[in-house]
Amino acid sequence: MTPTINVLLLGSGGRESAIAWKLSQSPRMGKFFIAPGNAGTSDFGTNLNIKPTDFDAVYAAVKENDIDLVVAGNEDPLVAGLRESLEAKAAADGRKLLIMGPGAAGAALEGSKDFAKAFMGRHEIPTARYFTVTEANVAEGDAFLESLKAPYVLKADGLAAGKGVLIIDNLDEARRSLREMLAGQFGKASAKVVIEEFLTGIECSVFVVTDGKGGYLVLPPAKDYKRVGEGDTGLNTGGMGSVCPPPFCTDEFMAKVDERIIKPTVEGLIKEGIDYRGFIFLGLISCGGEPYVIEYNVRMGDPETESVMPRIASDLLPVLEAAAAGHLGDATVEADPRTTVAVMAVSGGYPGDYAKGKKITGELRPADSIVFHAGTRTSAEGDIETAGGRVLAAVSYGDSIEDAAAKSYKALADIKFDGMYFRRDIGKDLL
Ligand code: AMP
Ligand code: GLY
Repeated sequence: MTPTINVLLLGSGGRESAIAWKLSQSPRMGKFFIAPGNAGTSDFGTNLNIKPTDFDAVYAAVKENDIDLVVAGNEDPLVAGLRESLEAKAAADGRKLLIMGPGAAGAALEGSKDFAKAFMGRHEIPTARYFTVTEANVAEGDAFLESLKAPYVLKADGLAAGKGVLIIDNLDEARRSLREMLAGQFGKASAKVVIEEFLTGIECSVFVVTDGKGGYLVLPPAKDYKRVGEGDTGLNTGGMGSVCPPPFCTDEFMAKVDERIIKPTVEGLIKEGIDYRGFIFLGLISCGGEPYVIEYNVRMGDPETESVMPRIASDLLPVLEAAAAGHLGDATVEADPRTTVAVMAVSGGYPGDYAKGKKITGELRPADSIVFHAGTRTSAEGDIETAGGRVLAAVSYGDSIEDAAAKSYKALADIKFDGMYFRRDIGKDLL
């Protein structure tokens, strides 16, 4: 029998709940910790009250619990150098530690849009035309804007909590916004701004596990629903639901993604001397069946992960362990043939201001669905209550999108909290 391994998963959202749910089913799992986790992750492992960006505290937990593998859920610690910090501390202690997540150089694929665009340019990966602007070349930025057709896409170079992308219909307004961004609208993140050509098409998310040595595996593709309102209206959110797989991600489309995007990305990282062991999230747009990269992220997507994890039929833990060890070898990922639909229930007012601490009641362990916690916590009285904008995701399997969505809506009908809201049209555009 292969020995078990002890795992520490960093993060607290619906994504981490879904990863925890999946990994906890592995026969290889030894002791399992989630830091900081939420009220639901404690069903799968032990929550540790640690901030993932507090590397000293993370490493102290690694030592105390004899952790073999750290899995990074979100990007912030990776961009801030989690890998380098943990590797240095482990080396000083003579401890073997595997980390699933790139070092800061690889994390720049998400941490700097300018780096990501230049990387795609160097490796001939299809993406929108762009121009990068700082205070020093605003006039050239204006000229580039004038060369484009509306709408105009302006992106803060750095991390801006998912809010740094503006899509603007009017040229004068785009020029004004460019200046506001450079002047600090998104703090330091927008001291550089990437202007992009607007691409028209349908978006999907493709997730790759890579070992930094050229080995990679592709997870089932998904589509997320970013706008708060039905029919894709209203403000952008972290994500209101997801479908896995979207029917337009055909074998033919995925073969193009592999050939034109995944292979050159994985090989490009190696050519640039970046030992990337982790997830690569390709935010893609299909323009008439041709894939283009909208963005890279260096982690799984949320709420895509909530629909992707249930569709992985094989054991994921050995895959992550092998990728983190730099040798995927003959590891595989088997997909469940069914469709999954995740519907996110959010706090009233989200993505604007919303209240926290609302008691959640009802059936959180329904027979036909999985309810993944996101922004939840356990109150002093032992109740489960809201603790964030995106509160929980109901996920279900079905033979079709309609079938899976109907089950997720049925699950949400049995859950209540004050101000609870969810979109009732997840997956409808794909029917
Ligand atoms: P992001 O916050 O980087 O995920 O971007 C937010 C959203 O802006 C994306 O999901 C797309 O819907 C949209 N977007 C970003 N870049 C482009 C582009 N070049 N063309 C069209 N839409 C875009
Ligand atoms: N669902 C998009 C993201 O995780 O960035």
